[in-house]
Amino acid sequence: MAPRPAVLISRLETIAASRLSQIVELEQEAFPACERFGAVLMQQQAALRTSGLLVAEMGSAFAGFLLFSRTASSGLIAKLAVCAHFRRCGVGSALLRHGIAELERPQRRGATVSEILLHVDPAREEARQLYEAHGFNRAALLPGYYTDAPGSTRAALLMRRLNPESHQQQAESAPMIKAKRRREELDEHAGLGRTSLGVA
Ligand SMILES: CC(C)(COP(=O)(O)OP(=O)(O)OC[C@H]1O[C@@H](n2cnc3c(N)ncnc32)[C@H](O)[C@@H]1OP(=O)(O)O)[C@@H](O)C(=O)NCCC(=O)NCCS
Repeated sequence: MAPRPAVLISRLETIAASRLSQIVELEQEAFPACERFGAVLMQQQAALRTSGLLVAEMGSAFAGFLLFSRTASSGLIAKLAVCAHFRRCGVGSALLRHGIAELERPQRRGATVSEILLHVDPAREEARQLYEAHGFNRAALLPGYYTDAPGSTRAALLMRRLNPESHQQQAESAPMIKAKRRREELDEHAGLGRTSLGVA
């Protein structure tokens, strides 16, 4: 059997019309109408400074995409889909790994997201397993999140991954903060009255 081609992941800065139609076609196959962005919103989202669109190729064939966005403190996996004939070959994992790395990479001035969130239909067993394998845990069940038709809704599962780097930094800085507070308390007690700004 011929070896399977490697998965190539790239981040798109601009989306060519032919690429956009592949993405939108896959979105239509993989998601019901109420969960779709469609061409216009997909393009708008991808163009935002706070968002990113990753595309996977196997050989030279389009295999899937992942759309992510961020706020100051959290990241969001907004959409992930793999073409049916490329599933179970590691494409979803490769996209998710890259998406997580992009979101957890420190930004200018060292800002990092402390968590990554996503919403998934709890019936999507394969997606839940994929997310759990990449460190996402169930955070909440959100009833009525998806509206299939007027009066017909479905719940979404909110999943969350804590950024290990940011939580390690917090854990490491906690003893220093405690020690600084203790010094301030001792100074106050001794009548030195230094403000916290004045303490090195
Ligand atoms: C979910 C999805 C992205 C997975 O992509 P994929 O390329 O098949 O995933 P991978 O091959 O990297 O699989 C990684 C892991 O996901 C889980 N997984 C993937 N497909 C699975 C299936 N059919 N059944 C059970 N687990 C599955 C497994 O844990 C798997 O690891 P393993 O192969 O070592 O057992 C793909 O099935 C898809 O596009 N589904 C439709 C859209 C969707 O549900 N998107 C996510 C919701 S937002």
